[in-house]
Amino acid sequence: MMITYAVIVAIIGQLVSADLQQQLALSSASSDFSQRLYQKVALDKPSIVYSPYSIHSALTMTSLGARGDTATEMKNTLSITSLGNSVHAIYKELIQQINSVTDVELNTANAIFVKPNFQIVPKFTQDTSEFYSAQTANIDLSADGGPEKPINDFVANKTKNIIQNILPPGTIDSNTVMLLVNTIFFNGTWRAPFEAHRTVSQDFKQLRGAVKQVQMMNADRYVNIKRDAVNKVDVAELPFKGGRFSMYIALPRAVDGITDLEQLLVQPEKVKQLFTGLSSVRVQLSIPKFKTETTLSLNTPLKDMGIRKAFISNAANFSGITSAQVFISQVLHKAVIEVKETGTVAAAATVIGVSLTSVQLPPTQAFIADHPFVYFLRDNQTGQILFQGKFSG
Ligand SMILES: *[C@@H]1O[C@H](CO)[C@@H](O)[C@H](O)[C@H]1NC(C)=O
Ligand SMILES: *[C@@H]1O[C@H](CO)[C@@H](O)[C@H](O)[C@H]1NC(C)=O
Ligand SMILES: *[C@@H]1O[C@H](CO)[C@@H](O)[C@H](O)[C@H]1NC(C)=O
Ligand SMILES: *[C@@H]1O[C@H](CO)[C@@H](O)[C@H](O)[C@H]1NC(C)=O
Repeated sequence: MMITYAVIVAIIGQLVSADLQQQLALSSASSDFSQRLYQKVALDKPSIVYSPYSIHSALTMTSLGARGDTATEMKNTLSITSLGNSVHAIYKELIQQINSVTDVELNTANAIFVKPNFQIVPKFTQDTSEFYSAQTANIDLSADGGPEKPINDFVANKTKNIIQNILPPGTIDSNTVMLLVNTIFFNGTWRAPFEAHRTVSQDFKQLRGAVKQVQMMNADRYVNIKRDAVNKVDVAELPFKGGRFSMYIALPRAVDGITDLEQLLVQPEKVKQLFTGLSSVRVQLSIPKFKTETTLSLNTPLKDMGIRKAFISNAANFSGITSAQVFISQVLHKAVIEVKETGTVAAAATVIGVSLTSVQLPPTQAFIADHPFVYFLRDNQTGQILFQGKFSG
């Protein structure tokens, strides 16, 4: 009896860890993609925020309908080739996990809007529904406020009105046949909130000697910290209530060290290292209170990263979506993050437009984030980076 019991426990243990292994493989793929994207979209901007999860999952969902070289390029760029078709089942599990989280408010949704009477391969509708819980609806070409409005309303609704007007008027034209949409909304309270009365205006040292006044939140407390002398970066982990999700702030040791840190992000091993080996230290903590909003058109960055055929009107192969000749005409992303004393609210949406081819203690240490830094809002369990950004004052 005892032996049987032990065997069952061992098998269950294996199943759980196999599942976790798959989640870690997916988050690793998504992070690699995210860091390559960072190099394309973030280096020329003082501050930026985007959701690696949202962009990666929307493109992976779209890849369900890609064939031939179009599919190969998408999978290679998304770093999902080695996961094979199981990537969609892993996303299914992740989406279920995300939508059942307690302690923080976290929701994700997918949807597909299709031009009325446009024929979709039934398997594509089935698979996007099965693996991504994507609801399919028609584009309302005669909607009040334009055909973009119902889609903007969907995104606003799923992000508690944080992401508004993601589609500018005129985005949907006579060639648009489909829009694939992903949203994510996060609202977490810090496990240890900052005291509002300790927030004061302080200097933030920007690049090239400029100094800006920012609202700095202050606390003396135990924080998971890593002092990485080799890579010249200090990392602080600020957990949200529940402990599963954390904000990681990667602060270069040098006031102007952000460029070196950004170069480090290209190496997947270096990124993983940012999140390991932290230990609890009592510090004087100073983190700016900030809000960043970013809108990105991802066509050019994604082409530079290797997704080429999908964007070429007469070369894209989406025969898994439709028998008509279609291509990706646009990939739009919008994200907002607000970091304050009580916690962090962040939301993002990605819209992929598919068009028909015709036209185009007393602390002894300190962690003072008073110069440009990079941050990650991360699921400590699956390793998923839900949001990533840079703040330069
Ligand atoms: C798309 O790819 C499929 C599978 O590789 C192939 O059978 C089909 O001919 C391709 N279609 C076009 C238009 O290239
Ligand atoms: C989103 O839509 C649902 C159902 O129509 C509604 O109950 C909810 O209040 C809406 N949320 C927002 C933020 O508008
Ligand atoms: C986030 O959560 C806090 C605390 O529960 C709440 O007061 C706030 O309204 C929420 N923000 C949004 C945008 O839902
Ligand atoms: C996050 O995970 C790491 C390793 O899995 C662990 O050491 C750390 O304590 C976790 N953080 C929180 C806040 O639970």
